[in-house]
Parts: sequence; C-alpha cells; structure tokens
Amino acid sequence: MRERSWSVLEPDPPEYRLPDDLRARDVFGGRDCGWVSQMRPFVRAYSRPGDTVFDPFCGFGTTLLAAALEGRDGLGMEIDDARADLARERLRRHGAEARIVRGSIPSKKPLGRVDLCLTSVPYFGCRWPGRASTGQCYAAPDFDTYLMAMRAIFHAVREALPDDGYCIAMAENVRIDGRTLPVAWEVARILDSLFLACDERVLCYPPREDATSERTTESDPLDAAMRNDRTHEYALIYRKRRPPIDIERTRAFLSALREAGFEAAMHGSFVPWAAGDAPAGTRRPNDLDLWIRDDPMAWSALLRWLRAQGFRLSMWGEPATVETSLDTLRKRHYLRAERIDGDGAAVRVDWSLAPEA
Ligand SMILES: C[S@@+](CC[C@H](N)C(=O)[O-])C[C@H]1O[C@@H](n2cnc3c(N)ncnc32)[C@H](O)[C@@H]1O
Repeated sequence: MRERSWSVLEPDPPEYRLPDDLRARDVFGGRDCGWVSQMRPFVRAYSRPGDTVFDPFCGFGTTLLAAALEGRDGLGMEIDDARADLARERLRRHGAEARIVRGSIPSKKPLGRVDLCLTSVPYFGCRWPGRASTGQCYAAPDFDTYLMAMRAIFHAVREALPDDGYCIAMAENVRIDGRTLPVAWEVARILDSLFLACDERVLCYPPREDATSERTTESDPLDAAMRNDRTHEYALIYRKRRPPIDIERTRAFLSALREAGFEAAMHGSFVPWAAGDAPAGTRRPNDLDLWIRDDPMAWSALLRWLRAQGFRLSMWGEPATVETSLDTLRKRHYLRAERIDGDGAAVRVDWSLAPEA
C-alpha cells in the first residue's frame, strides 16, 4: 500500500463489477456495492496469504472477492437473504470460495478463525424498500439505534479477532435534510473505544456513472444518504491492542491520589510494577485496577477530582459524567478514567467496587 494518506480509486474493470443481471435483482439496484479496487490494497497490506478476511456487512461480496483475488479466505455475514444469495452467485461465477453466513454478528458468531475484519458500514438514513430483516441497519429508525447496533457488532468483531488483529471500516459522513450527519466520526468514536486507532485513509472516487439527477428524488430509498453525491470516504484503521500505560506517570498518579486523601485498593497487573518488582521482560500493563469502598460521598468527590486532573471518564466506551452513581458503577462493573498527556504518555485507571468481604 502506498504511504500516502489518501488515494484516488480507479473504477473496477468490467470483469470485477457486480454483473448487470445480479444488480437488477437487488432492491437498491446494487448502487451501494463497493469496488474490489477499494478493498484489495487493504487486504494486501493488513493480512497474509491464507488468512481469513471477515466482512460483517458483506453485501454483494466485494470484500470477499478482493480477499479471494489476493489468496485469502473470505468469510462474510449478511442480514439480507437475497443479498447473501447474490454474493454467493457473484463469487461462484469467479470460481471464488467464500463462506457467507446469513444473519448478523453478534447474534451469530463468525465460524472459525478471523484474521482481519474489513468492511463498509451500512449507510444511515436509507429507507429499505419493503420488509427489512430484523436488525437491518439500513432500516434503523433513528441515529442512536443505528449507533447502538454498530457498537454491538464491532464489539463482537473485537471478540472474534486475535490480539493485534486489524479492524478496518469504511465510513462516510452523510447529508440528510440539509445537515451533515457525522456517521464516520461516530463510527470512529465507537471503534476508538474498542480498538487502538492506527491510521485513517481518505478514499476519493471519480464521479459515479449513475450519479444522475433521477437519483435525487424523494422516491429513491438511497437518496437520503447519497443525495449529495459525496465522492470521498474514510478507511478507519484500528487494531486490537491497548497501548500500555506509562509506569512512572501512573506511580505519580497513585501518590497524588493518596495525597488528596482518597482510599483505593490496588489489584491486577500493576501491583508488581507499583512495588518496582515486575520480573524483567514482563509486558507493561494496559491499565491500573483500583477498588473503592461503597461510599457515595467519597465516590462523587473522586470523580470531580479526576476530572480536575484531566481524566476522561467512560463506561463501556461511552462518555460518563461526574454524576455517575455507585449504582450505575455496580451495574456496569467498572468506570474507566483515562488521561493522555501531551507527550503521549497514558494513565488509565479502571475503578470498581471492592468485592464484599
Ligand atoms: C454498504 S453495504 C455492503 C456492500 C459491500 N461492501 C459490497 O460492496 O458488496 C452494507 C450491507 O450491510 C448489510 N447489513 C445491514 N445491517 C446488517 C446487520 N445487522 N448484519 C449484517 N449485515 C447487515 C446490508 O444488507 C448491506 O448489504
């Protein structure tokens, strides 16, 4: 892959395009079909021959075809039965082997090993014509529901990936009803809470051949998402790996916590590092685990203190406020406080209630 952070894609040669007869069978006329040329460089750069490339939104099988052309195994999930059939038929015509599972992760687990997740997320703001399958993200009634589905799906992708495996999602911001909805930024935020951000690429497309005025009519179900004919999208490149915390900065944090009068008991992988006797060669921990007592006043003061020290609070990847109660902590099991200093050093603390004696 070229080291530039953007690229202008060439349309696929006719032999790799979605064949017209298959396009004609699709509810959207195949207009949300991606390009093999879009996916191939990512397959080459982020997997090895023989690896399994997984697409949780496999649509017409474009990623799976790109994987097959690069000597990788393809594994796809697609919630729409008719599309899963179209993808199978398309791959069959290329003599390409790929497993396509009807349904959706996480309600179904991907079968077998997954080495790379490479996908284009469904657009938000489409109107799926006719009856949509349950869980069809194109038919999400509102942005929040759509984003919750993205979180559940990418969380399950994380579970399926090996440590250090990559998850690459193509996403674009969309224009709906005169405003730009930051779909790509929100998907990036979700990925950011699950993976380590590695890079992003801007993919620019020549104007689409079918970008004609009849596409911009109210009756067009894809219209809401694609009205503006945007010709770029982002490849969001993430990795299943948490950066280790900074040992000295974390020790300094523990001293400051004590000096401020907060009580917390340490457990987990930071314990030997705090004592300075971690065996040589031990990997630096990813977080500091602290237990606190069931004391609402002290908890509230602690959250305010953490904010004042520049820590960002979150629970299960979503921002948390200083008002977060101990009841919520009990239900969610832990609250994460993270501070990344200007030099990149990270202090990451997971707070939970001490187990009852
Ligand atoms: C952008 S299209 C993917 C097109 C694909 N990249 C291609 O070029 O062949 C997104 C696909 O996600 C599917 N989809 C939507 N919600 C889903 C879900 N919850 N699980 C699996 N697939 C889903 C849609 O039916 C659609 O085919």
